[in-house]
Amino acid sequence: MPPIVEARDLTKVFRRPEKDPGLAGSLKHLVRRRFTDKVAVDHIDLSIEAGEAVAYVGPNGAGKSTTVKLLSGILVPTTGEVRIDGLHPQHDRTAIAHRIGVLFGQRTQLWWDLPVRESFAVLRDIYGLDAATYRKRLARFDEVLDLGEILPTLGRKLSLGQRMRADLAAAMLHGPRVVYLDEPTIGLDLQVKDKVREFFRTLRDEGTTVMLTSHDLADIEGFCRRLVIIDEGRIIFDGDLGAVKDQYARERILHVETEQPVPVEAVRLALPGAVITEGETPNQISVRFDRFVLTAGHAVTALAGLATLVDFRVDEPSIEDVIRRVYSGEILFDAKSA
Ligand SMILES: Nc1ncnc2c1ncn2[C@@H]1O[C@H](COP(=O)(O)OP(=O)(O)OP(=O)(O)O)[C@@H](O)[C@H]1O
Ligand SMILES: [Mg+2]
Repeated sequence: MPPIVEARDLTKVFRRPEKDPGLAGSLKHLVRRRFTDKVAVDHIDLSIEAGEAVAYVGPNGAGKSTTVKLLSGILVPTTGEVRIDGLHPQHDRTAIAHRIGVLFGQRTQLWWDLPVRESFAVLRDIYGLDAATYRKRLARFDEVLDLGEILPTLGRKLSLGQRMRADLAAAMLHGPRVVYLDEPTIGLDLQVKDKVREFFRTLRDEGTTVMLTSHDLADIEGFCRRLVIIDEGRIIFDGDLGAVKDQYARERILHVETEQPVPVEAVRLALPGAVITEGETPNQISVRFDRFVLTAGHAVTALAGLATLVDFRVDEPSIEDVIRRVYSGEILFDAKSA
């Protein structure tokens, strides 16, 4: 089967007027227009298979939202092509609108002066949903998103968490096969985040294709298998999330508590290459090591030979640590894909 989302050589250049401040600047700009070009998306190739869940991450201004707008037909690319389910976003507007759902966490698509229920009804009519399907979908969304108190409330009176839940339901009401979620958990409290994340998982498990953009990497852990990283408009990594962790999150920290004070020097000698940090009490110690050099099992065995262990724990770096190091340039990918 061909991919459901396909972008070839996708580029978006924004032309911004360059103008000195004030009226004089405006007049000067009228006479001699100057512009600067900003390449927001720079020759991107991206294919997403039906049913895939993809995390799309990158630092502020990397081009994530612009990509989402291009992939949903909101923006026309400067060069390159997009196909959704084989269709062209500009030529097959209506057919595309039925296939995709978009959520921008930063912005609402609800009508400000209508109760949410009415906004939903407008969407129902736009998409020509029959009453039974509409009711069934609303009931299902209600189970996870708890829409009860939200439905009679005016768009402008919703709290951020309520607004996001309503927007999620609105984006999914027509049963799109592909959904782009651009920062769907921004500003939400932990409880609402959990609900929203549960909703993503429901979508994924039902076979919806999901592309998820977030700065909160807890959103993507346990949700997406595939990670795409964009930086300055270019895709710098496209591969398996687990593989990135395996390859780049090599560090482990073993925390140990012992019955007697730890013989620190003996531990250093027994585990060359590891970084030993003494704990708050003489009976605690932390051992930081590269798991490609030493295994946790080996470290535990070595320590157990030197003192009686009461407790131990191994910490792994999170994907957040890895991506932070990618953004800071500490990790460089030599190939686009892993
Ligand atoms: N309509 C526009 N006109 C001019 N420049 C734009 C426009 N939209 C985006 N840009 C510029 O394109 C670049 C990419 O912006 P984009 O919103 O895609 O980034 P992002 O990765 O979504 O960032 P964030 O994490 O902050 O949401 C930025 O430099 C931004 O200033
Ligand atoms: Mg954005």
